[in-house]
Amino acid sequence: MAIQEICTVAGCTGIAPGLFEMVLEAPGIAQAAKPGQFVHLACGEGNLLRRPISVCTAQGAALRLVFQVKGVGTEWLSARRAGDRIDVLGPLGHGFDLTATGDRPVLIGGGIGVPPMLYAMQAAKAAGAQPSAILGFRSRGMVILEDEFQAAGTAYIATDDGSYGVHGFVSDVLRDHIGEFTSVCACGPKPMLRALAQIAGEAGLPCQVSMEERMGCGIGACLVCACELKLKDGGEGVRYGHVCKDGPVFDAKEVVW
Ligand SMILES: Cc1cc2nc3c(=O)[nH]c(=O)nc-3n(C[C@H](O)[C@H](O)[C@H](O)COP(=O)(O)OP(=O)(O)OC[C@H]3O[C@@H](n4cnc5c(N)ncnc54)[C@H](O)[C@@H]3O)c2cc1C
Ligand code: FES
Repeated sequence: MAIQEICTVAGCTGIAPGLFEMVLEAPGIAQAAKPGQFVHLACGEGNLLRRPISVCTAQGAALRLVFQVKGVGTEWLSARRAGDRIDVLGPLGHGFDLTATGDRPVLIGGGIGVPPMLYAMQAAKAAGAQPSAILGFRSRGMVILEDEFQAAGTAYIATDDGSYGVHGFVSDVLRDHIGEFTSVCACGPKPMLRALAQIAGEAGLPCQVSMEERMGCGIGACLVCACELKLKDGGEGVRYGHVCKDGPVFDAKEVVW
């Protein structure tokens, strides 16, 4: 059940070029938030539409978000300071189903898809699993949250330019280590998710993917976030789902790639 809270900013700091970490005092939303869910933030009076940002972690009353500055909304968010107030709706959507991931899930994030996988990793560990993470970044300077992933399990890092960790893509690392895992959960750009879903499928592993679409209402009322899904009976044709309500996390087998 989503709630609307006027949250106080506890802090907002830059953690890499163009990337910010914001901690909000959000007692109701933080307590209810599950890994893979997102919140919808009002970004000042001039911006009519809320902006969707995934939950990075939620602990007690503290809701942590990590975001990249892209346009006016995220620019506005990055300028918030401790004590400022933000109107937040959440938690929204369906997150990762960690009851279906076995005892050695691998949580995979690419770029700004990395932050939501931290909460999933911590939750998997708390549930008694031995999670691993594969995290992909452009270069060394963009690596974030590594220590916290390492604290919750094993974390493999890949960079596009080879300046840190493995030189290559998260899909290369998954292919090399696929025998170590019981399932795959992932968040990142669609081509990355498509490649991961294919590798998991070939290995017979369950795979959940967090999809991204532009959003309007965030609660299933406006159709802006429609995405194509396969028919449930496996037949020809497509059906439409709402990323905000039916997702953002989907079984990779449902997605029309
Ligand atoms: C479920 C979900 C979770 C997300 N989680 C994160 C996260 O944890 N960290 C992060 O940095 N980003 C995340 N994003 C992307 C983030 O919502 C966009 O970067 C942000 O809305 C851009 O807003 P803007 O005003 O800065 O940019 P503008 O380009 O000025 O935005 C114009 C409009 O387009 C929409 N829009 C633009 N890009 C996107 C996008 N990629 N996805 C959805 N709507 C978009 C905006 O919401 C706004 O309504 C997430 C997106 C979704 C759908
Ligand atoms: S954003 Fe309005 S239906 Fe999903």
